Amino acid sequence: MDIANSIYSGSEGWTQLEEVIREYSKSGVYILVDENTKRFCLPVLRNKCEGLGESLVIEVHSSESNKTISTVEKIWLELVSAGATRKSLLICLGGGVVSDTGGFAAATFKRGMDFIHIPTTLLAMVDAALGGKTGVNLNSIKNQVGVFALPEAVFIFTEFLDTLPARQKLSGYAEMLKHAMIDSKIHFEQLLAAASPEKVFDEFHILESVAVKMKIINEDFTETGLRKALNFGHTIGHAIESYSQKYDTDPLLHGEAIAIGLLCESFISLRIFGMDENDLKKLASLISSLYPHYRINPATVDELLALMSHDKKNANSSELNFSLIRNLGEPVYDCFPDEKLIRESLHFYMNLPAGFYVS
Ligand code: GLY
Repeated sequence: MDIANSIYSGSEGWTQLEEVIREYSKSGVYILVDENTKRFCLPVLRNKCEGLGESLVIEVHSSESNKTISTVEKIWLELVSAGATRKSLLICLGGGVVSDTGGFAAATFKRGMDFIHIPTTLLAMVDAALGGKTGVNLNSIKNQVGVFALPEAVFIFTEFLDTLPARQKLSGYAEMLKHAMIDSKIHFEQLLAAASPEKVFDEFHILESVAVKMKIINEDFTETGLRKALNFGHTIGHAIESYSQKYDTDPLLHGEAIAIGLLCESFISLRIFGMDENDLKKLASLISSLYPHYRINPATVDELLALMSHDKKNANSSELNFSLIRNLGEPVYDCFPDEKLIRESLHFYMNLPAGFYVS
């Protein structure tokens, strides 16, 4: 299986998409959108793909708090009412919430209908829409229920990024940083050299980031080994994201939490494996300059540790499983740092002043 071959972009992508829509037109094509993609992206899609005609549009809300089983149920019910069958196609047009809930709804509808992803956020282009992880959150714990299910194809159209707020783009940029860090020093330096993240939101850099993930997925689709490398920054990042979802009126976006996770887990990588301190400094400098500093107090640290132990990657709650790096380009997984070091890493982050630059 070469999953990487089912990714299309640019003008070839639009031609291929029309072909796919034509193929499914007799058995029914349905489009899943959120409130933003309905407004900004659906008209572009309809304009480019005449074959879509008046396909039924199903709308869900884009916020992470809606990545729930009730959203999936709403999709199932609308598909049933519209007469969708196992041979129909669901087009997931949106960010991570649309691709995760839509992929899960399609993979389980009548035991599985086909679906494709057209990611419209940077985060979904470089991560959420790739690799077949679908599912929902349970209470405030991320991705507790889901299945591995591959879309028929993923279409990356960077023009959709033009409608995206800067904060959303920076959220996706954190996953690009993660890919660069597990890929190579050259890739990491290339992102840093771009001077501003805006410079790397082009098709070349996005497809380079996509290639890092797809290479890993092709080797280990069901995450028995190497794919765990993609969880770098995510044990701490997911806990911070869940915490923020629970307590903040304007919660952190996924990538904003992952940026903090990358910093803390790089600190742990330095302590356990001797990751190059200069690279940690560069990362700290970059993240401090791009993302707002999130206040974590000592009481929060206890709750974050409790949230980490609910992370799906940890079979045993007393052993927190981390994916770290020995150095840039050298991922290492199934690491079990002790609780004291995890706490220290959070303190390292807490003590970085906002906008702090390490020279
Ligand atoms: N986002 C990590 C993965 O897809 O495995």
